[in-house]
Amino acid sequence: MNKRSAHKITSSGQLRIVEHPLLQDRLTRLRDKKTSTAQFRFTMEEAGLLLAAEATRDLPTRPCRINTPLKVHTGRVISGQTVLVPVLRAGLSLLPGFQRLLPAAGIGYIGLARNEQTLVPQSYYQKLPPLTRQTHVFLLDPMLATGGSSLAALKLLQQNGARHITLVCLLAAPEGVRKIHEAFPDVPIIAAALDEKLDHRGYIVPGLGDAGDRLFGT
Ligand code: PRP
Ligand code: URA
Repeated sequence: MNKRSAHKITSSGQLRIVEHPLLQDRLTRLRDKKTSTAQFRFTMEEAGLLLAAEATRDLPTRPCRINTPLKVHTGRVISGQTVLVPVLRAGLSLLPGFQRLLPAAGIGYIGLARNEQTLVPQSYYQKLPPLTRQTHVFLLDPMLATGGSSLAALKLLQQNGARHITLVCLLAAPEGVRKIHEAFPDVPIIAAALDEKLDHRGYIVPGLGDAGDRLFGT
């Protein structure tokens, strides 16, 4: 972990919890059941921007020579191909923040819906841009609960050639983190909080409820 960020990030294995005060503020508003659908959507987008700033911390850069108004200067710019992949539906809420910071990134979509009884994710859509070993993929899903959905999405990305993948979520449950670590020990997980547990219906506790339903008013 970068020393400069030590006050903002706690790290355990590949799990990085972003403790930025703005993100913690947004997370508390998202947890609050009084937050309206419109406010929930807007706040999730703000959280996405804050998560994006941290999730992109290790992206490669290359030197770039430019002229300032005063002199020639060699700065650094982002290099390489980046791809953003939201898991439908709730992952869409994190997309605008990432797009804002990585406007040239390709975008892929993975549609998964958890069966409410079995908690097994059913795949209903996928569309990915070409992925290579060099592509940096950011997999976006605000909720890492049992880990079944993120695991299925990671497997799909790997089958399609991705090797550098970062999983970005807002809330993680210990069960989900364990599942991802076991199957993909090299995939970093960026989150705003590691919550206590799952309840008997597979919801994160204390959590924020059903992210998709709160975002889309269903
Ligand atoms: C939610 C959430 C994750 C998944 C997490 O999606 O957005 O994708 O559950 O649960 P898991 O870690 O146990 O797999 P859901 O299937 O409810 O679909 P939605 O986003 O369309 O509401
Ligand atoms: N999906 C959600 O939207 N919320 C949870 O708490 C768990 C899975």
